[in-house]
Amino acid sequence: MTPPKYVLSGLKPTGRVHLGNYFGAVKNWIELQDSYPCYYFIADWHALTANYADPSDVRQWTFDAVADFIAAGMDPRRTVIFVQSEVKEHAELHLLLSMITPMPWLERVPTVKDAQAKDDDTLDTYGFLGYPLLQTADIIIYRASFVPIGVDQAAHLEISREIVRRFNNFYGEVFPEPQPLFTTTPKVPGLDGQKMSKSYGNTIPLTASADEVRALVMTMFTDPNRVRRKDPGNPDICNLFHFHKLFSDDATIARVDHECRTAQIGCVDDKKLLAEIMIEKLRPIRARREEIERDPSIVWDALRDGNRRARERAQETMELVRSAMKIDYPQLR
Ligand code: TRP
Repeated sequence: MTPPKYVLSGLKPTGRVHLGNYFGAVKNWIELQDSYPCYYFIADWHALTANYADPSDVRQWTFDAVADFIAAGMDPRRTVIFVQSEVKEHAELHLLLSMITPMPWLERVPTVKDAQAKDDDTLDTYGFLGYPLLQTADIIIYRASFVPIGVDQAAHLEISREIVRRFNNFYGEVFPEPQPLFTTTPKVPGLDGQKMSKSYGNTIPLTASADEVRALVMTMFTDPNRVRRKDPGNPDICNLFHFHKLFSDDATIARVDHECRTAQIGCVDDKKLLAEIMIEKLRPIRARREEIERDPSIVWDALRDGNRRARERAQETMELVRSAMKIDYPQLR
C-alpha cells in the first residue's frame, strides 16, 4: 500500500475570514477533506511580520479564523486544525533551513521586492525576509505533498520547492516536493472592484449578519458608465455581477445579465436582489458561527486536539531531519 499523501495549508490571521479568503482558499480546503488527510493552520507567527509592534489583536484573529473555518464546514475530527505558534518545531526547522538558504533566493521573492519598492520600513526586517522560509518549514514539517493556495502564493511555493531540492540534495530524500493546488475560482473582487483584502478595507465577512450584508452590498461599485437608471449597463465590468456569478443560480445570472443590458433592472434593485441571495446562501455558515459564539470551547477543544496531532507528526519529521543532518545525539538519549 502506498502511504497517504498529505494536504497542508495555512491562513495568516487578519480578522474575520472574508469572502476572498473563503472562495480563494478555505472552500477548497474544506472540499479536500473528503480526499486526503488534511492539516490546516493559523499562521500567527506570520501575522507578526506586519503586526510586531502591537500583536495584541492576533490572538482574537486566530480564534475568529478557526471559528469561521469550523462554521464553514471544516471538520476537526477528520482534519488537523492547529495554531502555528503552538508547534514549536516549525521554529526549529525554520532555523535549520535558514542555514542552507542563499540570501538572493529570498531577496528575489516578489513580496519582498514589492515591499522594498514601496519603501516600507516596517517590513525591512529579518523576519519578513525569512517569511517564505517559515512558510516552507510549515509545509514540509508535515511532509505535505499538496498545498492548496491562491495564485498569489505561487512564488512562495516555488521557493519552497527549491529549498526542498537543496535540502534533499545535501542530506538525502527527507521531504517530498510540495505541489501547489491552485483554486479555480476567479479572483474575488472587493466592494470597490480591487482584489478583496483586509488592507484595502473592501471586505465582506463570511459570517456577516443579514443587515451587514445588505449595508455592504449597497456600497458596491457597479458599471461606472451607467449613470442614469435608464442607461443600459454592462455586467462584464460590473462588480455586483461578479458576485452574482459566485452566489446566484444560472437562471438568475442570465436574467440579471439581460435586464441590466436592457436597463430593465436598476443597480439599486439589483443590489437588493443580490444581498438577499447572499444572505440565504450564507445562512447555514452564519448559524453555525453563532452557535460557536455561544460555546467557544468548540474552537478551543478542536485546537487543543489539533495542536497535539500536529506536534506528533512535526516531531516525527524533526527526528528524521536531525538524523539526516547528523546533528542528533543518540548517546544523550
Ligand atoms: N503566506 C500565506 C498567506 O499569506 C499563509 C501561509 C503561511 C501558508 N504558511 C503557509 C500557506 C503554508 C500555505 C502553506 O496566505
